Amino acid sequence: MRVRKAVIPAAGLGVRFLPATKAQPKEMIPLIDKPTIQYIIEEAVASGITDILIITGRGKRAIEDHFDHAPELEHFLEQKGKVEALETVRAIGSLANIYYVRQKDPRGLGHAVACAEAFVGNEPFAVLLGDDVVVSEVPCLKQMLNLYEEVRGSVIAIEEVPETDVSKYGVIKGRALRPGIYVIEDLVEKPPVEEAPSRLAVIGRYILPPRIFSLLARTGPGAGGEIQLTDALRELVREEALYGYAFSGRRYDVGSNLGYLKATVEMALGRPDLRGPFLAYLQSVVCGGER
Ligand code: G1P
Repeated sequence: MRVRKAVIPAAGLGVRFLPATKAQPKEMIPLIDKPTIQYIIEEAVASGITDILIITGRGKRAIEDHFDHAPELEHFLEQKGKVEALETVRAIGSLANIYYVRQKDPRGLGHAVACAEAFVGNEPFAVLLGDDVVVSEVPCLKQMLNLYEEVRGSVIAIEEVPETDVSKYGVIKGRALRPGIYVIEDLVEKPPVEEAPSRLAVIGRYILPPRIFSLLARTGPGAGGEIQLTDALRELVREEALYGYAFSGRRYDVGSNLGYLKATVEMALGRPDLRGPFLAYLQSVVCGGER
């Protein structure tokens, strides 16, 4: 069955970005001039997804406004003849069919995904986490969908991380099927480094079966006292095949201050309109000289 629906959990409080996130959603913080959540939605759309459910919470209204039409702004830009800006603003309003549901209590990623059950129904679906922005030639989710078509089993994105970082992620134990593709045998959420089964971390892209909802329904609190998607996946691998896929591309953890900075700098260097002057500026900062 073709995967056409995606779920984007966006109810988190953005504690790592306080005070910026006190009165605005962390998903609306821009990388250069585009909110991080728009990169995620564009990746989903470029991968063939047509229907997207964003799991929001209190204080997240700006996300809905962003993906809506903006008649006053559009009228203003039209009057001023700002054609390019007008096109940019209009295009956002018709990216995909976007739906919203609120997660009333922040009880963890597993709980957030469970809020998508009615939207998803009985079909396979994708989950994309907003803290992981991936820059790649073929969109990360598209790469995973290609594998999904081939193996007809659920797929999660993985990446090798330094030993010092394994405790920040879900970590897999797997058997290599071919380079970069693993049959997952077990997973553990945020293990202490000495208990981690590998250095292969789960990155925020998943293609899941609807069966995950019944497994989530009986998943109790895990790491950090939260209902963990990883714990439900652990049950899933006892029943059916789950593949780990080491995608190609550069992944940024934009949920951390340093990852966010790296993404900003590298994306600016990748933009033809900014690269020249920005590079000259960076060189002057690093090597000294006039700014
Ligand atoms: C979540 C998942 C974790 C995964 C990570 C990827 O953790 O629970 O398994 O490795 O996303 O970014 P979080 O970063 O929300 O704590």
